[in-house]
Amino acid sequence: MVKIKSKEEIEIMRDSCLLVGKTIAHLATIIKTGVTSLHLNNIAEEFLKDNKAKPSFKNYHGYPFASCISVNDAIVHGFPVDKPLESGDVISIDIGAYKNGFHGDSAYTFALGEVSDEILKLLKVTKQSLYIGIEKAMPGNRTGDIGFAIQEFTEKKHGYGVVRELVGHGLGREMHEEPQVPNYGKKGTGAKLKEGMVIAIEPMINLGTKDLYTEDDGWTIRTKDGKVSAHFEHDVHIQKGKPDILSSFEDIEKAEKLNPELTT
Ligand code: MF3
Ligand code: CO
Repeated sequence: MVKIKSKEEIEIMRDSCLLVGKTIAHLATIIKTGVTSLHLNNIAEEFLKDNKAKPSFKNYHGYPFASCISVNDAIVHGFPVDKPLESGDVISIDIGAYKNGFHGDSAYTFALGEVSDEILKLLKVTKQSLYIGIEKAMPGNRTGDIGFAIQEFTEKKHGYGVVRELVGHGLGREMHEEPQVPNYGKKGTGAKLKEGMVIAIEPMINLGTKDLYTEDDGWTIRTKDGKVSAHFEHDVHIQKGKPDILSSFEDIEKAEKLNPELTT
């Protein structure tokens, strides 16, 4: 069952979604070479707590951390680890905030230090593909319209690998609600979008092959060819006129520009 949210529920959700952006932005002020992803995770967990939220991911199907921090060939669901980040690392941070009964879920990928133009372009195109997908998040359209738009841009136009096994999703009182929102597909197929739905759109785009494998930890998902992957995620409220993006990258992008070690 797809759940339709009331105006009041949407405003509660906006608070949870914005908090995720603030949390990732806070991390963007402290990311630098030598800092560990485990440290970033602990800061994020504290930040959520200070803002009266719970980390959505912790204990979700047994996931042990407040955040997913996926570095380089890790696509998503990377465990925060006690290993210093290095110049050249591509760091995807995915966080969920549960507050007042609703989840926010958002992700952003950073380039630390010296990163090749090829990889910077992957990040730019992946972020752009998220907004191209969001444009299709309109009442009457279908999830396949979103997937088609993202796939055309990333795979057909730029030759990147679009992950098939993991998809975006409905969001609300549960972190994963119906419908599924793939980053590939055919126009006019999939679930129909209706006013009051909230969906998380989250392209996971690989520099090389779309194929992946799961590491022995049972969670971390990596590219089969070891090449870099990027992941950006927004929560979108379906409404008449234009899509209402509940999450925000504004603070993250500000912090990213001000951090001399983050490359854009
Ligand atoms: N943010 C992920 C998603 O969008 C969920 C993380 S899975 C978890 O689906 F287990 F880490 F919570
Ligand atoms: Co998500």
